[in-house]
Amino acid sequence: MNYLLTGATGFVGSHLVETLLREGDSVNYLGRKRSKSLDSRAAFHHWDGVSLPPLETIAKVEAVVNLAGEPISQRWSKDVKQRIYDSRVEGTRQLVQAMRQLRDKPSVLVSASAVGYYGERGDELLTEDSRVGVGFLADVCSDWEKEALRAREFGVRVVLIRIAMVLGKNGGALKQMLTPFRLGIGGKFGNGQQWMPWIHLEDLTGLLRFAAQNSNVEKVLNASAPNPITNAEFTHAMAEAVHRPAIMPVPKFALDALLGELAGFVVGSQRVVPARTQAAGFQFRHPEIGAALRELTR
Ligand SMILES: NC(=O)c1ccc[n+]([C@@H]2O[C@H](COP(=O)([O-])OP(=O)(O)OC[C@H]3O[C@@H](n4cnc5c(N)ncnc54)[C@H](OP(=O)(O)O)[C@@H]3O)[C@@H](O)[C@H]2O)c1
Repeated sequence: MNYLLTGATGFVGSHLVETLLREGDSVNYLGRKRSKSLDSRAAFHHWDGVSLPPLETIAKVEAVVNLAGEPISQRWSKDVKQRIYDSRVEGTRQLVQAMRQLRDKPSVLVSASAVGYYGERGDELLTEDSRVGVGFLADVCSDWEKEALRAREFGVRVVLIRIAMVLGKNGGALKQMLTPFRLGIGGKFGNGQQWMPWIHLEDLTGLLRFAAQNSNVEKVLNASAPNPITNAEFTHAMAEAVHRPAIMPVPKFALDALLGELAGFVVGSQRVVPARTQAAGFQFRHPEIGAALRELTR
């Protein structure tokens, strides 16, 4: 299949490029600058991420996978929040607008969203049919999804992937957490009772490709492992994987001081299950946190 990616240079995108090329797919990517580390078989096309992408780059592709977005894990100043919003909502609007103008349109748009869509929800079991939550990230995800869904107006199949915390080697949340855990100073966040959805990077890239390839799949799929865990269970599994104790909880006030508004997201609780993802026939290769973390920290 011929793919066009946005956000291909990122943690998820670069792994997806490797996966697609390994499977014999062809890859084009739109980005702000050419990546030196991506496989040179992936063809680069310049796009600033907020204006209309060059139409000829989308003209010959079958599947568009939209992953671009300003990183969430930084202190949320007013400017940063604006970039988080615009790079997703405006970027997706322009991408869909370009697709609208083409005579030969791609058959599918697989567009990233996040479990942040659900907001803070305590112990409530959340499926793809659960209502949107409240807060900045829920608003961003909701508007981001609405822009992607507009592609259905002109016959393009749209799949929205609500992504949980992605665990993979050499990047993302695990890279940030590994050093404190290896030093034996890792610990649960707050009281650790909050539900903490996660997915192995390999399962996520598999799911993105699955969504593009399967013409019967549409609307929302939760990209989160099928066995939800709390932050305390995650902390225990991390400590076991690196053979170190994890006895020092990080109190909420310390997270507030360190992360500002982002702290609310870090200790937020979302008990997400991939109900539609599994019903669609997707098989998770890494459903258990213990085994996943042992493999990733080897
Ligand atoms: N990683 C996770 O745990 C996680 C969890 C939930 C949802 N997600 C979502 O999944 C997507 C991919 O995540 P990721 O971890 O791979 O992200 P990432 O490593 O931060 O990469 C995102 C990509 O987006 C582009 N980008 C960054 N800032 C931008 C801006 N201001 N304007 C336009 N483009 C910008 C960059 O591509 P170029 O430099 O090539 O333009 C970058 O490579 C993101 O949308 C993210 O919100 C990720």
